[in-house]
Amino acid sequence: MSHAEDHAGTRRDFLYYATAGAGAVATGAAVWPLVNQMNPSADVQALSSIFVDISGVAVGTQLTVKFLGKPVFIRRRSPEEIEAARATTLDELSIDKTAQNPNKPGADALDQNRTLDDAGEWLVMIGVCTHLGCVPIGDGAGEFGGWFCPCHGSHYDEAGRIRKGPAPRNLDIPLASFEDDATIKLG
Ligand code: FES
Repeated sequence: MSHAEDHAGTRRDFLYYATAGAGAVATGAAVWPLVNQMNPSADVQALSSIFVDISGVAVGTQLTVKFLGKPVFIRRRSPEEIEAARATTLDELSIDKTAQNPNKPGADALDQNRTLDDAGEWLVMIGVCTHLGCVPIGDGAGEFGGWFCPCHGSHYDEAGRIRKGPAPRNLDIPLASFEDDATIKLG
């Protein structure tokens, strides 16, 4: 094949794909509103808030819910967990000293700036390791009594603060608030 023929072939291919592409876009535009209406997850995703019933969460256990495509841990901490988390000083938090809490912008990572209630019983966090995105194991896992990410060995404490391993940041906290005594609003 000569260079000229090669070039022509390339050009034909380009024209073919450009036309097919234009058709696909037109079809996609026509179909999308119908698909969008039929897809319940699209409606759910469009919601910026969800309400979570926490009335059944026992002390020392946690509930995991999905919010905006990510797991969210809602933990009702035991008195021992609260005590250990509150006893930790900023000096001990050598990797990340910030609360990572949009409900308290700019706050430091002391336990009272991470929990949803003043007493520290409720801890709400996005359950995604801040290293490369695995979902950490909970219920006191790891060397600091909180969560452990086995992917590369990140240890989080009772307040979800990174204490050891490659993760650069405390577990993120989502926008959250109490709607009433038995309901937490996410978002
Ligand atoms: S993803 Fe968690 S330690 Fe790497």
